[in-house]
Amino acid sequence: MDEKNRAVRCPYDNGDPIEMDPCRDYLHMRGDEAVDWDEDLGVWLVTGFREATAILRHPAMSAAWPEQGRTTLHAPAVEGAGDAARTSDLVRRWFMFNDNPVHSRSREIVAPLFAAERIAALRPFVAGLVDEYLDSAQGRVDVIADLAIPLSSRVICHILGLPEAVASRLAGWANDIAALLVADYLPDVVTRGHQALREMTSVVDDVLATEVPEGSGLRLLRNAQRDGLIDQVDVWATASLLVYAGFETTSTFIGKAVRATLHADAWDGLRSHEPAAVVDELLRYDTSVQQVARLATAPVEVAGRLIAAGDLVLIMLGAANRDPQAFDQPDHVDFGRRIKRHLTFGYGAHYCLGAALARMEAEVALEQLGRRWPSTVPAEPPTTRTHYGITVLEHLTVRSESRHDAVQF
Ligand code: HEM
Repeated sequence: MDEKNRAVRCPYDNGDPIEMDPCRDYLHMRGDEAVDWDEDLGVWLVTGFREATAILRHPAMSAAWPEQGRTTLHAPAVEGAGDAARTSDLVRRWFMFNDNPVHSRSREIVAPLFAAERIAALRPFVAGLVDEYLDSAQGRVDVIADLAIPLSSRVICHILGLPEAVASRLAGWANDIAALLVADYLPDVVTRGHQALREMTSVVDDVLATEVPEGSGLRLLRNAQRDGLIDQVDVWATASLLVYAGFETTSTFIGKAVRATLHADAWDGLRSHEPAAVVDELLRYDTSVQQVARLATAPVEVAGRLIAAGDLVLIMLGAANRDPQAFDQPDHVDFGRRIKRHLTFGYGAHYCLGAALARMEAEVALEQLGRRWPSTVPAEPPTTRTHYGITVLEHLTVRSESRHDAVQF
């Protein structure tokens, strides 16, 4: 076994659900080839850190893959139903899935929401929410259902200007839209995904028809529409993109971060290290966005492999973040690690617009958990479910063992 494969083995694995490497689903892809053709799916898989970076900044790699990107799974569906049954027009309008000039024009409209001073000003609001959830938890909390989901859904409603009452509907919508992005070859998935988008845009319309909150995302979008920069469909598209991209990514990450900290027996480190360094290492170790895609618009050579024009490329961010060529002992959680850069938020023009917000939410949640519950253990084995080939952490109930917070069972 060569050096690279030897590092694949997780140092914590012993069969216990908390202790097993949460990334085992995709780490097996981290083989000898940093760029490899997957015959079954008919796509390129990129798992090397250097190679993923090169692809993400390559001008011939288009982000507009939902329109034409095909895996072998799409073939029967496309023959039977045509493109109309695939990803909705609305999703194709997301600036995440567009190249310039459309991409930067739409991104710039909502970018002020994520400026450093806006995120700093939002911190007390986030801290207040975390306080509220942990106060009512009384020493035992399902990190996903009782902390991460309510937190990130209320934050995204606040930023966008959606009524707070809508927050509880975000999880269902995000689930159905996520399925649409990975399994749009299944008619049921398409029906449910389109329904979720319709419901979401109708809530957006309700807000636009009444008082749009000052400084909110919807106010920026409405003004841009009034100035003739974008049309009504763009307003729906960007609003739905922010809900989708900003909610589940963050709630899932907070759950994964708690799980990884327990998994690595590193709970004490939440108090002894800078929150920013803790979050950065946890983002590297187990990201909630395992892959992004690109479509080659011209032949591209990477790591000695020739990617042909029209080929779909999956960039495996989580596996690249565990590349032993880029990180020393990549399967270890090390809060003292000095990370120059990881790929959790992508790289290049499409670098995550909400990265600072996601970091801040996770920092506040972990900092408060670590401080209020200095000794925390799993209360039950975590439960996961498989969602079209991706393992989703569904429940992670932990309890505090500290004197003041402990509850008796
Ligand atoms: C831990 C949480 C998050 C992770 C892991 C994450 C990850 C990513 C990644 C990998 C991309 C790049 C997509 C690509 O290159 O194709 C991206 C883009 C994006 N993210 Fe995030 N994200 C997170 C949180 C957020 C939040 C909180 C928001 C906003 C509310 C957000 C909004 C966006 C947007 C709008 C884009 C598209 C950027 C563009 O195309 O220019 N994300 N995110």
